[in-house]
Amino acid sequence: MNGFPVGILGTGKYSPERRLTNQELETMVDTNDEWIVTRTGIRERRIAAPHEATSDLAYEASLKALAAAGITADQLDLIIVATVTPDMFCPSTACIVQEKLGAKNAAAFDLSAACSGFIYGLANASGFIATGTYRYVLVVGADTLSRITDYTDRNTCVLFGDGAGAVVLGRVPEGRGFRSFKLGSDGSGADLLCIPGGGSRLPATETTVAEGRHFLNMNGRDVFKFAVRIMGSAAEEALAMAGLSKEDIDLLIPHQANIRIIQSALERLNLPEDKCMINVDRYGNMSAASIPVALAEADEQGRLKEGDRLVMVGFGGGLTWGASVLVW
Ligand code: UT7
Repeated sequence: MNGFPVGILGTGKYSPERRLTNQELETMVDTNDEWIVTRTGIRERRIAAPHEATSDLAYEASLKALAAAGITADQLDLIIVATVTPDMFCPSTACIVQEKLGAKNAAAFDLSAACSGFIYGLANASGFIATGTYRYVLVVGADTLSRITDYTDRNTCVLFGDGAGAVVLGRVPEGRGFRSFKLGSDGSGADLLCIPGGGSRLPATETTVAEGRHFLNMNGRDVFKFAVRIMGSAAEEALAMAGLSKEDIDLLIPHQANIRIIQSALERLNLPEDKCMINVDRYGNMSAASIPVALAEADEQGRLKEGDRLVMVGFGGGLTWGASVLVW
């Protein structure tokens, strides 16, 4: 990639305390632990407290990322929050985080690319730093999916959870940092994963609320097929752009939607499970937060060694996808 080398200077994550287990879901909808575990790999997920919104989760994760990077909030030049569950439509959640952090020198905006949002955010941030426009950029993936989940719909309510992950990006020594970004979209699949109501197409009314149009709606089977196809191909394309091959991967950090989707990516990339971060069992699918939370856990567990080649790959509503190769 051109310009100054850009890498991750610090990571952080935040998970709400409340755990929603499969056993509890059994009392809410017609489902069972065995179905959920075998079809998705999920055992529990975290749910934000009533007083917590996406900016609160983002803020907690950001504090940790700033501390890990060894910089203060006023050194930030830009804050990007990737989310599909902003605190409100306007202002951006990034502006609310900017104020909470006291990041008085930072520009701020939200980015909407669903579960691929964190990788899209990294690509954006990296461009600003590589060109010398900015020195330090905070990229957050944060979602409070419990607020747009219909807990009477067993097709979706077993899948999602809340959380936030954050990273600080800045210049790194030559030979380290991001090597490639492969981003993609296919709007022909927009209907497969969407929140139909509450926007300018179908503004919120008593009827839209009564019909549950403000909830996340998903065609699980079609999204599954797309995910299986795109995870492997996006990762392979990002590797090729970086001049690397599958054998070079030290750690894969995939979007955590379903263990079967992750396993199919591992098969295609010919990787053993111990070269992959998996936490879908503990958190479910946290949309934009899944990859940065897995990355922060890898960091906490000492699984990221200098010179390691990481591949991050995700897919989501839009449809969108993104993959990146990074030398730690
Ligand atoms: O971040 C991106 C967001 N989304 C995703 O990544 C989701 C991708 N899709 C998936 O992960 C899977 O398609 C699901 C986990 C959503 C569903 O798994 P599946 O193996 O594709 O199941 P299915 O949709 O083919 O449904 C199989 C059966 C159906 O019953 P019938 O029609 O065969 O009688 C469903 O009604 O399982 C039933 N079912 C359930 N049963 C118990 C669906 N949800 C549940 C449930 N508990 N929670």
